[in-house]
Amino acid sequence: MLKIVVCVSGGGTNLQAIIDGIREKKIENTEIIGVISNNKNAYALERAKQAGVEGICISPKDYESREEFHQAFLAKMDEWNPDLIVLAGFLVTIPEKMIEKYENRIINIHPSLIPSFCGVGYYGLKVHEGALKRGVRITGATVHFVDKGTDTGPIILQKAVEVRPEDTPKELQQRVMEEAEWVILPEAISLIAAGEVTVEDNRVRILHQK
Ligand code: GAR
Repeated sequence: MLKIVVCVSGGGTNLQAIIDGIREKKIENTEIIGVISNNKNAYALERAKQAGVEGICISPKDYESREEFHQAFLAKMDEWNPDLIVLAGFLVTIPEKMIEKYENRIINIHPSLIPSFCGVGYYGLKVHEGALKRGVRITGATVHFVDKGTDTGPIILQKAVEVRPEDTPKELQQRVMEEAEWVILPEAISLIAAGEVTVEDNRVRILHQK
């Protein structure tokens, strides 16, 4: 059984896609053992509660320094000791110590086709604003392992989504979520739970890929 902790900051629709995927058995051999939010008002915590999953808030605002926040975050993670950490719309930088300790065991969903519209400053709606401003015809989403850079880790899955001329950033965000994020995040977890994902030379290999 793959034990996962999901980290969230906002609405939690990606968390919901994981909860639903497990319930509908699209994701097998996986259990969400906890949810961590940096924001106590995140609706994602309500989704966790409704699913009967323990959800807690660990916010940098409640600590005197970043270092103290990092210690508390890592201590809780170590207490839960997950096999995989899933960043599902988590807008806080992961401490280096956690990245070292959980190497190739942290994944993130990003709402573009990396390496476009990613890196520092590209998160949430800003990603879609960037895509529309540049006038790309195709965008999408990426699930990748987390390394010490911002959105630079090995890519696990990507899915393309059409951009329409009349799209607003919010409309594009919604389509990317529905057509790509909520599909490839559960799929990536499912592949990892099945032991199908390996990392070699900073690149992901999916065994028995269909
Ligand atoms: C999602 O679109 C996710 O890809 C994005 O935040 C949103 C969270 O929505 N993440 C990033 O931009 C990370 N760089 P959700 O809370 O409804 O899952």
